[in-house]
Amino acid sequence: MRNTKSDFPVFAAYPDIAYLDSAATTQKPQQVLDAAAHYYREENANPLRGLYDLSVKATDAYENARIAVRDYIHAASKREIIFTRNATESLNLIAYSWGRANLCAHDEILVAISEHHSDLLPWQAVSRETGAKLRFLECGKSGLYTEEDLRKALTPETKIFAIAQVSNVFGRLNPIREFAEICHKNGTLIVCDGAQSVPHIPVDVQELGVDFLAFSGHKMYAPMGIGVLYGRRELLEKMPPFLSGGEMIEYVTRESATFAELPHKFEAGTVNVGGAVGLHAAIDYIRSIGFDEITKHENALTAYAFEKMRGIPHVNIIGSEKAEAHLGIITFTVDGVHPHDIAAIFDADNVAIRAGHHCAQPLHQYLGVQSTVRMSLALYNDERDIDLFVNTLKTVRRRMGLE
Ligand code: ALA
Repeated sequence: MRNTKSDFPVFAAYPDIAYLDSAATTQKPQQVLDAAAHYYREENANPLRGLYDLSVKATDAYENARIAVRDYIHAASKREIIFTRNATESLNLIAYSWGRANLCAHDEILVAISEHHSDLLPWQAVSRETGAKLRFLECGKSGLYTEEDLRKALTPETKIFAIAQVSNVFGRLNPIREFAEICHKNGTLIVCDGAQSVPHIPVDVQELGVDFLAFSGHKMYAPMGIGVLYGRRELLEKMPPFLSGGEMIEYVTRESATFAELPHKFEAGTVNVGGAVGLHAAIDYIRSIGFDEITKHENALTAYAFEKMRGIPHVNIIGSEKAEAHLGIITFTVDGVHPHDIAAIFDADNVAIRAGHHCAQPLHQYLGVQSTVRMSLALYNDERDIDLFVNTLKTVRRRMGLE
């Protein structure tokens, strides 16, 4: 793959940094920055409301972004694409809108134990409100969820199952298509958190058969503050609005209101056109390189890092012992050193990684570790970044006075 670092102005500003925290947020290419700036310079107005030329331009820019997202994830209709602030808001929308309307006591919500808090806390809240029981699907220590485990965990009462396509801790790709089939045979809906998959592998919601998919723009080279909820149209049609206010209505009287058609029913208030335009540009940018190249490059770098890390004494990789089961994410601990101290040492060497529980505390409790360190890749990383990371990792224990 061509070297893409020069597309990202941040690497000109910080030429020495090894940025390995892309699972938290990616850097932004010039193409995305230009598109967002162009929108604000030449097309900005409140969209969907104005009858004047500039507002029509803003509306077109916004709706073209929706079409780009539809095509990117192969949804059947642009009405199935709801713009939100981020994956967290998308997941909250499902839980509060679908969950409140469809769950009651005796029902069950099944959540994978490795879920990010954003795919757990909304279900905890809806469980408390409706009386539906919250249950967990546990994985092996390698992060593997099996079809057999899922079949056993589902009961006639399980109304919905929530799982990420790629865990933000294990980096493991879950068999979502197979899981969707098993769920549907049981009359269970499946919610997929695509935050860590959609930027890195091709995702086809129709082929996967998921009922809902949530993801964030900022983890796929787009600005912060724009996210996506995909939902199957017949489900979204029946769901009540999540937030209410301007632009999501059809007709309002003093006492009541009828709501706009999809997707606007779920997009209350003035929307984030600049973010949507940036997301459109990010999709075009990803497409200009292509997933064949991106996935091959990221997998090769992951394998390169994984092999080097495995050779370092006292480094414990969380999850699978196989590099190919880590999709650009390697989480680890170092014997005797607190993850925050590890992160501080990396920072001193200009290597940006993340330490903590990665918003997945129940998974850390399940694994019996309080916190971990995570390095995560994106398409702009190269072997030099990995070499800097590995060189620092080798020195951690010595610099903590343990060797
Ligand atoms: N969800 C992001 C992460 O895992 C913030 O780092």
